[in-house]
Amino acid sequence: MDRSLRALGPVYEHLSQVLPEESDVASDGVLTIGGCRVDEVAAKFGTPAYVFDEDGLRRQIRKYVDGLRARWPKSEVLFASKSLPCVAMYAMAAAEGLSIDVAGGGELMMALAAGVDPARIYLHGNAKSDEDLTMALQAGIQAVIVDNFDDLDRLDRLAKTPQAVLIRVIPEISPDTHASQITGGRGSKFGLPLDQVAIAVDRIVQHPLLQMAGLHLHIGSQVLQTDPFVQAVKAIANIGQYDRYDIGGGLGVQYTADEIAPSVDDYLDAVVDAARAVLPADATLLIEPGRSLVARAGVSLYRVDTVKRTGETFVAINGGMADNMDIALTGQKYEACLPTKMRGEPDTRCEVVGRQCESGDRMVSDALLVDPHVGDLLLMPVTGAYSYTMANNYNGARRPPIVFCRNGSASLAVRRETYEDMLDTHAPAFDRKW
Ligand SMILES: Cc1ncc(COP(=O)(O)O)c(C=O)c1O
Repeated sequence: MDRSLRALGPVYEHLSQVLPEESDVASDGVLTIGGCRVDEVAAKFGTPAYVFDEDGLRRQIRKYVDGLRARWPKSEVLFASKSLPCVAMYAMAAAEGLSIDVAGGGELMMALAAGVDPARIYLHGNAKSDEDLTMALQAGIQAVIVDNFDDLDRLDRLAKTPQAVLIRVIPEISPDTHASQITGGRGSKFGLPLDQVAIAVDRIVQHPLLQMAGLHLHIGSQVLQTDPFVQAVKAIANIGQYDRYDIGGGLGVQYTADEIAPSVDDYLDAVVDAARAVLPADATLLIEPGRSLVARAGVSLYRVDTVKRTGETFVAINGGMADNMDIALTGQKYEACLPTKMRGEPDTRCEVVGRQCESGDRMVSDALLVDPHVGDLLLMPVTGAYSYTMANNYNGARRPPIVFCRNGSASLAVRRETYEDMLDTHAPAFDRKW
């Protein structure tokens, strides 16, 4: 974008780092994403909606794929698909050169439906079922990430043909992030403690069908420093030499105007330097980003339903913790703006709250909006990761649609759930007397 940020209005100037890369402001003050006016997207697809900047998303994927390949040619970037599991996203990820990490049969089914080559799929899970493993083995996925000895017992029973496996190791690194997002610390429910890895390796090496491909770790999510990743690489270097090292995902992203997150290049420089120092030079290096691939490209678009002035000003939207659980789970802070008033002066301090029946359903505290009114659109940036995937039906909310915007055209990737969809899973009340 050539123009100065100021020329795009005060709201854009403030939020430029967190709005999608391909955003702009039309002369009448309406935000555009991927060349699409948000008022037109809202009119066509309704609200709440998850709206994505497709070009920005593809660019972010390539930053990872090309960046890792340039630093460590024998490498693979896996999309941690739990962050945005929809068929269109699996297809786009594969087309842009990503492999896929799935955490269970549901994500595997979507990846296969998107046409992803099974040889590029990796299966995770700390409680894999027979069904998950059977689906994965039958599909012929690249590798199962063994989390525990029950995975090995199940593979003993279920594997009929050779299957590569990696072992998930607890590196005993606890990054500085929300407690619920730490996964690599001592006592984690994910993976095997360092002193049990050799036992698992022995079982795999002696197994006629399992192939010991390498080690895996993942220290956590929304990690805003690079050093814990470096420490984790060092932690697994001492437990034998293997063909493949999957060092997980977890790079944090900037959610608010004043937050600072390492760039993808900073992250890749740090982990590849560490890998060069301690891992075998001919090993394949894998990483598994989720949040940092998809978060910034996506926004949540809502409609303001009520503006209540009680001393405090509450701006209540037609969504909430049913379509964004991250706030309730991790206390994540977000920004908000009124995307049809980008050229106005923000003048109203308020609490943006959701419509779900919980006092904790507060979306953005101390937001500064431009004269909010009932019927205005309200947008929350950086909601591309973990929002759709954790969306739920609390208070009968319908899961919102996903819309991808590119070059001025908006494509529906996932339609809005309907009330009929919700009823579909219920036994009709008249089937029997309840
Ligand atoms: C095993 C594994 N890999 C990768 C990720 C992706 O993490 P993030 O979305 O923070 O990059 C997760 C999510 O927590 C995970 O559990």
